[in-house]
Amino acid sequence: MSKSMSRSKPTQRGGRRKPFSFPRIVVPQHRPRRFYGHGIPGVDPQKLRGKLIVVEGCDGSGRSTQIQMLMEWLESSGHATTQTGLKRSTLVSEELNMAQNGNILSHTTMSLFYATDFADQLENVIFPGLRAGRMVLADRYIYTLIARDLARGSDLEWLQNLYGIALVPDAVFYLDVSPEERLQRNFAKDYALDYWESGMDLGLSREMFDSFLKYQAMVERQFQKLHKTYGFNIVDGNRSPEEVCKELQRRTAAVLAGE
Ligand SMILES: Nc1ncnc2c1ncn2[C@@H]1O[C@H](COP(=O)(O)OP(=O)(O)OP(=O)(O)O)[C@@H](O)[C@H]1O
Ligand SMILES: [Mg+2]
Repeated sequence: MSKSMSRSKPTQRGGRRKPFSFPRIVVPQHRPRRFYGHGIPGVDPQKLRGKLIVVEGCDGSGRSTQIQMLMEWLESSGHATTQTGLKRSTLVSEELNMAQNGNILSHTTMSLFYATDFADQLENVIFPGLRAGRMVLADRYIYTLIARDLARGSDLEWLQNLYGIALVPDAVFYLDVSPEERLQRNFAKDYALDYWESGMDLGLSREMFDSFLKYQAMVERQFQKLHKTYGFNIVDGNRSPEEVCKELQRRTAAVLAGE
């Protein structure tokens, strides 16, 4: 039932009234699922019947804004929706914050810490949501984790093996916004730049604005490489939130229809 339904009702005299139409409801179509690698033992991907939609993009690209708008649209269209994102697991998110503040862990230990957070949310948020047939909207996924680690010198094969537990999403929308525009947005939002989002741990520059632009360009280059492997849906995020959201709605409706 992917087309809008419209029909005419006969009048009492046997003539036909003007056609009336129902709102267009898209019934999610099931498609075969798989993990990127070894997956998680005991989890049958075919039983994860909901849809996993990922919104990716560099810091300040407008992901949270779009996820919120997309969630409201999905719920108002009759699709129960769950949100997830990085550093949100009840298991380690607090400890991750402490580790960032302390800044004493090596890149590899930090990377494994983030992977733990991801695995916890996969098992306790993403899989249960999908099993229940919900839409799961992810504010970032393994691609951000891999891109950031690659920018810090990690090995791609090692990272891909680590994230072999991840489920292949139904769609990955990458919000493409220039670093200069993101710097403006970040600054307008928080009146400051974040230490980690500016890559200050890498010693690229003592000046934070300069470091932000250099580090963000490094991460963006890694995203471009990952796009060749994973094939993101690139969305021009330099437009107004409403215009971006319209495109995301159109593309999400296509995913629901199994296109
Ligand atoms: N399309 C847009 N045009 C202009 N400003 C925007 C747009 N989308 C979001 N913003 C603004 O830019 C700032 C960053 O947006 P948002 O928090 O959604 O981005 P984010 O990618 O989630 O950022 P973060 O990396 O900090 O989580 C916010 O103040 C938001 O209101
Ligand atoms: Mg955000």
